[in-house]
Amino acid sequence: MKLHPIDMHNAITALSCALDLVGVDEVKHGKRVAVMARAIALHLDWPEAECLSILYAGMLHDCGVSRIHEHRRITETLEWDGAEDHCIRGAAYLSACQPLAHLSAEVRYHHTRWEKLLEIPVDHRTRLRANLLFLADRIDVLQVPFLDNGMILTEYPAIIARIKTLSGVLFAPELVDAFAEIADVEAFWLAMEPEYLDEDLRNIGSHIPSTLLDIPALKELARLFSRVVDAKSPYTDEHSQRVAHIARQLAMDFGIEGYELEQVEMAGLLHDIGKLRVSEDIIDKPGGLTPEERATMHRHSYDTFRILQRVFEGSRIPVWAGFHHETLLGDGYPFKNGNKELDLECRIITVADIFQALAQERPYRRTMTLEYILNDLQSRVEDGHLDAKVVAKLTASAELYYRLAVA
Ligand SMILES: [Fe+2]
Ligand SMILES: [Fe+2]
Ligand SMILES: [Fe+2]
Repeated sequence: MKLHPIDMHNAITALSCALDLVGVDEVKHGKRVAVMARAIALHLDWPEAECLSILYAGMLHDCGVSRIHEHRRITETLEWDGAEDHCIRGAAYLSACQPLAHLSAEVRYHHTRWEKLLEIPVDHRTRLRANLLFLADRIDVLQVPFLDNGMILTEYPAIIARIKTLSGVLFAPELVDAFAEIADVEAFWLAMEPEYLDEDLRNIGSHIPSTLLDIPALKELARLFSRVVDAKSPYTDEHSQRVAHIARQLAMDFGIEGYELEQVEMAGLLHDIGKLRVSEDIIDKPGGLTPEERATMHRHSYDTFRILQRVFEGSRIPVWAGFHHETLLGDGYPFKNGNKELDLECRIITVADIFQALAQERPYRRTMTLEYILNDLQSRVEDGHLDAKVVAKLTASAELYYRLAVA
C-alpha cells in the first residue's frame, strides 16, 4: 500500500490549534501544558522520544472537550465531578486513531489523583505520564489569571507552594519535586508567552522527519478531527462523517478514484473543523442569528482552510474543505471565489454539506423531507449558486444519498 508523508508535528499542532479555538478567550492551554510537561520530563532525564511524546500528549490531552462551557469548567476549578467524562471521550478518540493510539492511556487518566492512580492496574510508565499531564494541566489553570496582566512573575512562588501542598495526594512526589526545581526561575514562566511558545514548538518540529502513513491511518487522523468538531453540538452529531460519505459517493459517480477519492472523503471529514471556534450558544441557537453572530459563524470555513494548510501542505484538501461555503456566483464566503476557481471536488463538498444539513435536525427547524431538500437544491441551481451536474447526480440516486445523510 502506498504511504503518504505527513508532518505529524504540524498535524498535532494544528489539532491543538483547533482545540484552542474551543477556549476562545483562553487559548493555547494545550500548548502550555505540552511545553511544561516536556520541560519536567527533560529535567527528569526521560529518553528523548518520551519527552517528545509527552509534548504531543500535552497538546492533545483535551481532545475530548469540544464545548466552550465544558472548557470553562475545566479551567476554573482544580477538581470537579464529571472531570472524567472528557478524559474517557478523549482516550476513546485517540485509541481509534492508529497514529496517536499510543497516547490514549495517559489521556484517559489525566484528571486522576496520584493516590488513586496507585490503586488502578496500569503500568507505572502510564501512571507517571498521565500524572505529569494532570500536573502541567493544573499548573496552567493556576497561572492563567496572571498571564495577560504581567503578574505571573510576582505570583509564581505562590503557585509552586500550592502545588507542593498537593504532592503525594494529587501528584507524584517526584514530578512535583522536578517541577519545583525548574519553575523557581522567571524564565520558566516567561516561556509561556504566546510568541515564545509558538517559536519553541516550531523549533522542536523543525528537527522531526515526516511520518509515513497509509490511507487508513490518514483517514483515522481526519476522523479524529471530525469527531472533535461534530461533538460540539448534539445537532451536528456525525455531520462531518456523513458529509464525507456523501461526498465520496458523489465523487465516485463522477469517476473520481484512487488517492483523489480518498482526499475528497478527508476534505468532507475536515470541512467544518473551523467551527470549533464558534460558541455552541450560536450553533445551538433556536432563532435567527444577529449580524455579529452570523459573522462569527461565517469565519469557520476560513479557519478550516488555514488549519488544514498546516497539515496537508501541497494537497488540495485545504481548498476542497475550506471553500465549502463558496458559490458559483462568487457571493459565498470567505474568499468569494466563483465558478472558475471552484474545482469539481469543492462543488461536491458544498452540495454534500447542504444536503446533509437539510436532512438533519437543527435548533431552528425540523429535518426536511427528501422532496423538500431536492426542490431546495434545484432552486439553488437555478439561481446560479450550486453546480447543476452535481445536483443532478445526487437527484438521480436521491434515496441512496438520503440514506447516507440520515440512516
Ligand atoms: Fe486541560
Ligand atoms: Fe460549514
Ligand atoms: Fe458543514
